[in-house]
Amino acid sequence: MLGKQERGRHPLHDYNKAVEFALRDFRHEEFETLWRIDQQCFAPGISYSRLELATYLQRPGAFALVAEGSEVSETNPRSGLFNDGQPSTATVGFIVAETGSRGTGHIITIDVLPNARGVGIGSQLLRVTEDRLRTLRCHSVILETAVDNMPALSFYKRHHYTVIKTLPRYYSNAVDAFVLKKDLLSPPQPAKLPQ
Ligand SMILES: CC(C)(COP(=O)(O)OP(=O)(O)OC[C@H]1O[C@@H](n2cnc3c(N)ncnc32)[C@H](O)[C@@H]1OP(=O)(O)O)[C@@H](O)C(=O)NCCC(=O)NCCS
Repeated sequence: MLGKQERGRHPLHDYNKAVEFALRDFRHEEFETLWRIDQQCFAPGISYSRLELATYLQRPGAFALVAEGSEVSETNPRSGLFNDGQPSTATVGFIVAETGSRGTGHIITIDVLPNARGVGIGSQLLRVTEDRLRTLRCHSVILETAVDNMPALSFYKRHHYTVIKTLPRYYSNAVDAFVLKKDLLSPPQPAKLPQ
């Protein structure tokens, strides 16, 4: 269980709105919602079938966190980010991870709905998952992502992940994957300041 709810509120000044979100543990009855989010986040051939997602969620050592978001509109309280014109609270993203062998955790997937991206939900899902993996005695974490998924590669680079190898034709649509890794125990490198 999460010790406390992780919350964030991040204004998107371009659109005069803010998204409040909270993270919590996945409940089995929301499986279909997660599967539908995954369908929206990944192209056919990379998105999971129901069976694949269910299998990953049930693996020994697997856990999942979901992000629930609600829009706070500063100019038009009737507008809805997730549900047109209605007060909007919805599951907007999730992450599935597992403790692996020899102290290496594994991020199985991280998905944030297109309308809810760019406000820090993915970063918060990733940070809370890394914290939990540390608590579960993982010293590092790995994940796979498609070599052409530039937003994801930029996102992981900003979170100090580095490419350790390429898996040719990893996905069923024949796209290669990069395997990325992060050391969970060493402190982040200080930013280099210009002389
Ligand atoms: C990758 C993914 C999970 C990121 O989720 P997200 O919620 O958009 O992540 P964040 O908001 O934390 O960060 C995304 C970008 O928004 C920017 N951002 C973060 N907070 C922001 C804010 N308050 N205002 C404006 N921009 C912000 C960040 O700088 C970041 O930029 P960068 O990583 O490209 O440098 C999401 O794009 C996604 O679900 N993609 C489809 C599925 C996928 O590819 N998953 C990863 C492969 S497994």
